[in-house]
Amino acid sequence: MLKNKKIILGITGSIAAYKAVYLARTLIKRGAEVQVVITPSGKEFITPVTLSSLTQKPVISEFFTANTGEWHSHVDLGLWADAMLIAPATASTIAKMANGVADNMLITTYLSARAPVFVAPAMDFDMYRHPSTRRNLELLRSYGNHIIEPAEGALASGLEGKGRMEEPEKIADELERFFSASKSFFGKKVMITAGPTYEKIDPVRFIGNYSSGKMGYAIATAFASRGAEVTLISGPVTLPTPAGVKRIDVESAKEMYKAATENFPDSDIAVMCAAVADFAPEQTNATKIKRGNADMMLKLIPNPDIAASLGQIKKPGQILAGFALESDNEEENARHKLEKKNLDFIVLNSLADKGACFGGDNNKITIISRTGEKTSYPMKSKSAVADDIITYISGIYGK
Ligand code: PMT
Repeated sequence: MLKNKKIILGITGSIAAYKAVYLARTLIKRGAEVQVVITPSGKEFITPVTLSSLTQKPVISEFFTANTGEWHSHVDLGLWADAMLIAPATASTIAKMANGVADNMLITTYLSARAPVFVAPAMDFDMYRHPSTRRNLELLRSYGNHIIEPAEGALASGLEGKGRMEEPEKIADELERFFSASKSFFGKKVMITAGPTYEKIDPVRFIGNYSSGKMGYAIATAFASRGAEVTLISGPVTLPTPAGVKRIDVESAKEMYKAATENFPDSDIAVMCAAVADFAPEQTNATKIKRGNADMMLKLIPNPDIAASLGQIKKPGQILAGFALESDNEEENARHKLEKKNLDFIVLNSLADKGACFGGDNNKITIISRTGEKTSYPMKSKSAVADDIITYISGIYGK
């Protein structure tokens, strides 16, 4: 799958830069044309001579070649590539990519690149799990970049943990998988609901839930990167819109219902990932409810069941998937929802596993099919979970 693919290999200042030599060799062996762009600190770890003899191309590092004054166009380079792979990517480079700090040739090329971008982080365990790195990686994901998760093991610092750059063979496999799957949903229209709904009590209070939108946004990103036309109906979240995705912002379940029922008839696939409030206050107070000494009663009335309504109007050939979030009798309740809402499959989240599900970056799911088969997956990042869900849908299409 990498035959004749033009790949920019970005190398940054990490001890894992030595692995970039094997990576370049692996990509070339699989048929790719590789152009190395290295940061000034990357050159402290690996010499351009090694890389240029391997790739048969001059290694680009600065905006100008010092002795000839030749200017390197990051725009042309960005347009030349079929893919850009930054491996190893340090915390500093990831932060610059996330925030557009274009102070070296690699970042300017990244900002100019129209091709898919893959990032293989390499850093110490504590740096990797720092909130700032987590946030920057999340931003890169939201730009549609593909993060190749680091592996666990002994680190250069002497610590053990997650942070080792993934092995070159596995990185090359990831690129191959992308090119074989990249346009597999081209021409398909996909609707996704994500995030919570807010049901207003008065102008300053609402009933809501802990959904961050991360799971639904990861699914939207993954479908868009496979060529699908994606409409994301989003409850109130603080996430940026994934690249290439049409986003419709809603607040309440009723607004989500309206947007979903309008968009569903034209969709090939709908994934209902939103955590929709099942009840809303019967009335919204026009002014802020004042504190009194008496108990306060709030009458709640049921919201429309969006997934079930779509299940009723579903046409042959349309795929309707739901999620289930259960605190007890997980499987039994999920199967019941699958039937009741006329879904094609349901994704059961595990609330039992610490760090999975709401808010965090990971999830642990079991997919239950209409015919009752169960496929369980280990805990993974939400973007990897999104890939699993899409692979499952590809299976339904027989792709
Ligand atoms: O957003 P994150 O922080 O990343 O967390 C992700 C998630 C946990 C919110 C997500 O993975 C998830 O499980 N979403 C569905 C949660 C939920 O509301 O489950 P449920 O069992 O109550 O609903 C079952 C299905 O019916 C869901 O597909 C839901 O979107 C849909 N539904 C529910 C109620 C309703 N009134 N209308 C609906 O469409």
